[in-house]
Amino acid sequence: MRTEVVIIGAGPAGLLLSHLLGEEGIESVVVETRSREYVEARVRAGILEGSTVDLLESVGLGERLRREGDEHRGIYLQWPGERHHLDFVDLVGRSVWVYGQTEVQKDLGRAREAAGQEIHYEVSETAVHDVESDRPAVTFLDRDGREVRVEARAVVGCDGSFGPSRGAVPATVKQTWGRDYPYAWLGVLADVAPSTDELIYAWHPNGFALHSMRSEHVSRLYLQVEPDADVGTWSDDRIWDELATRLGHGQDGWQLTPGPITEKNVLPMRSFVMEPMRHGSLFLAGDAAHIVPPTGAKGLNLAVADVALLAPALTALLRKNDERGVDAYSETALRRVWRCTHFSWWMTTMLHTSPDPFDAQLQQSQLRWVTSSSAAARGLAENYAGLPIGF
Ligand code: FAD
Ligand code: DHB
Repeated sequence: MRTEVVIIGAGPAGLLLSHLLGEEGIESVVVETRSREYVEARVRAGILEGSTVDLLESVGLGERLRREGDEHRGIYLQWPGERHHLDFVDLVGRSVWVYGQTEVQKDLGRAREAAGQEIHYEVSETAVHDVESDRPAVTFLDRDGREVRVEARAVVGCDGSFGPSRGAVPATVKQTWGRDYPYAWLGVLADVAPSTDELIYAWHPNGFALHSMRSEHVSRLYLQVEPDADVGTWSDDRIWDELATRLGHGQDGWQLTPGPITEKNVLPMRSFVMEPMRHGSLFLAGDAAHIVPPTGAKGLNLAVADVALLAPALTALLRKNDERGVDAYSETALRRVWRCTHFSWWMTTMLHTSPDPFDAQLQQSQLRWVTSSSAAARGLAENYAGLPIGF
């Protein structure tokens, strides 16, 4: 088989890239190890930057988002005894949207289906070949176990943190950086109306807590836990008690309403960056090239920003034989990647408690600063609400 671009991975990066290329009349084939149902049900990120929303809207993917998503002006930052609202609209003129990754994934899935996109779900043994030539190829076994080889002008690895694309860049060429954090998040989804109008990020001596949401009827909550925490030791009652303590139930009359928990899982926290994001005819986008800890809500937005840069670059290459965009891709994308890597690390280290009392003093000083100095608050707001795509 031959196509113009082979995309490995049908997560948000892969499907959005196929959509952006499709808008330019460029043909692609997407391969994905999981089923479409599995990919669309995976509960992950929930916050979209304004520029992500604008981009999705500009390519016909904003209709349900604008109708069912919820625009937030800012977030609450708190510690015992104090809660402060940071209003991003007042601070930097930008907002964010609550709209689950599951919904983005469904909107993309439907749009690609309507466009007749070729997507091979449930493949195995994906392998990348000849990336140092201009006829790279991807081979895989389709869901019926048949061997398939697809040749193209470019291969894009949108295969997340465990896919094979990263490994196709030779060790002599690549450089990696990373950090494992000494804590994890216990994430829960609950069938209960959120107890807050906007997200609450809470510092507490027991550990960080976050109150997020998915809709008027569904709350998403997170607790800092030990990296090796066993979900089995976290009963629903224990989770709600700990959330009530850390989020300040009773503080100034604020109440946390518990409800039935429908999903619980432990998420490891890691920073990782790989350079370059291009090797020959292979390009990496999204989690395949970089991972951020979730505290800054950047993972999904970064994946979108990567493909927003890559799609026009590949279009220029394929339609005009103009290599300037693809040549600049890695360096341009990495500027934003490192900004988000720093911001996610900064939010994470500001809010997660450690056994060292010195850290606690620094964290509280930093929290007081970002909630009382408008210069500091603007810095947080500019990064959280998102820098323009292309920054
Ligand atoms: P992914 O969404 O990971 O998609 C990669 C796709 O490639 C997957 O569908 C995978 O099945 C497929 N694939 C892998 N290997 C192969 C192969 N060999 N062949 C073919 N296909 C392959 N971010 C936040 O901001 N907030 C959160 O709360 C949050 N929670 C998260 C929880 C988890 C468990 C994880 C893993 C991530 C979370 N993130 C969160 C990060 C965010 O979801 C990611 O940054 C985002 O999904 C990146 O999109 P992507 O398309 O690059 O990668
Ligand atoms: C959500 C996840 C985050 O990592 C974050 O910072 C804010 C919200 C969420 O899943 O809703």
